[in-house]
Amino acid sequence: MPDRRLILLAIETTCDETGAAVLEGPAPPDLGVPRILSSKVSSQIDLHERYGGVVPEIASRAHVRHFLPVIDEALKASGVAIGDVGAVAVATRPGLVGSLVVGLTAAKALAFALGVPLIAVDHLEAHLYACQLAFPEASVYPCIGLVVSGGHTSLFVCRGPIESELLGGTIDDAAGEAFDKIASLLGLGYPGGPEIQRVAQGGNPRAYSFPRSFLHDDRIQFSFSGLKTAVLYALRGQDGRGAEKPTPEVVADLAASFQEAVVDILVAKSRQALRQTGLKRMGIGGGVAANARFRERIQAMAREEGIELFIPPMSLCTDNAAMGGIAYAKLAAGQVAELDIDVTAGLIRPGR
Ligand code: KG4
Ligand code: ZN
Repeated sequence: MPDRRLILLAIETTCDETGAAVLEGPAPPDLGVPRILSSKVSSQIDLHERYGGVVPEIASRAHVRHFLPVIDEALKASGVAIGDVGAVAVATRPGLVGSLVVGLTAAKALAFALGVPLIAVDHLEAHLYACQLAFPEASVYPCIGLVVSGGHTSLFVCRGPIESELLGGTIDDAAGEAFDKIASLLGLGYPGGPEIQRVAQGGNPRAYSFPRSFLHDDRIQFSFSGLKTAVLYALRGQDGRGAEKPTPEVVADLAASFQEAVVDILVAKSRQALRQTGLKRMGIGGGVAANARFRERIQAMAREEGIELFIPPMSLCTDNAAMGGIAYAKLAAGQVAELDIDVTAGLIRPGR
């Protein structure tokens, strides 16, 4: 291994996936896109399935059980010995407090024991950095970044990997959360996104005309609660007590119309952010990026607007530790965390 390379161990426990990854990249002050040597994720989907969403207490307990085996697996798969790790990165915000604390505690202990720097990573900046990891030869920045997952629906201006500014986000549910809740309402499985997508294929996206909040509003803002209520009323009537068991045709039409409304909003707000800022590149992160209809429509928008679009492969779109490779940019900027650093549950908003 040449002297100027640095091995990074990255840890991710912001929500319900325990992730560990090993990367190799330029040692500071050099700057460059690192290479992923291994990336392992232990999913908790089976634990949360019966509740139709992530239960925070269950998530943190599962992280405690899984983080060591996952780190071990990632090290083994990379062929790197723990003693060769030159820095430890961990996502410290935003996320579920209990989950974040497990990852941060593990990372602190490792960094201390190994005598290497600890780097605190912003989970949303990391989601967008996944675009750079996936397309190492491309200039991804400056760009508009959209993170659209079970926990987030936010648009950013990203001038560089660690220079992002929030343009706006959801004032209630995240888009993925809305997919999960509507799937549960329609009697479909968890996670809801892939299920809605599956049944929507046989449905008519114009069967119901659902609300698209803030569609014609200058502000970059999202809201999915009105849409959720509209689907509930369409299914059960205004008093919420209608037909108990809808036909498969009704479920397919509701799913297709709901999906179309979410996609309309995501695409329109992305276009608005691009036009308002004049930026010509866009990066996307988060599990909802798996949605086939969303991909089709956002790609069409990118062509119409003449912008470059970066969507990483799914393993880098959903929660993973490899995107903690953004730590190389932080190291190069001298941003090393103290060992008494804490987690932050919420988004860091402009002016705070
Ligand atoms: O990024 P992610 O794996 O985890 C976090 O939420 O952080 O995203 C999971 C979310 C879930 O809400 C899931 O329903 C949604 O992404 N999702 C989808 C699809 N696949 C996953 N939503 C719409 N269409 C999909 N095909
Ligand atoms: Zn995430």
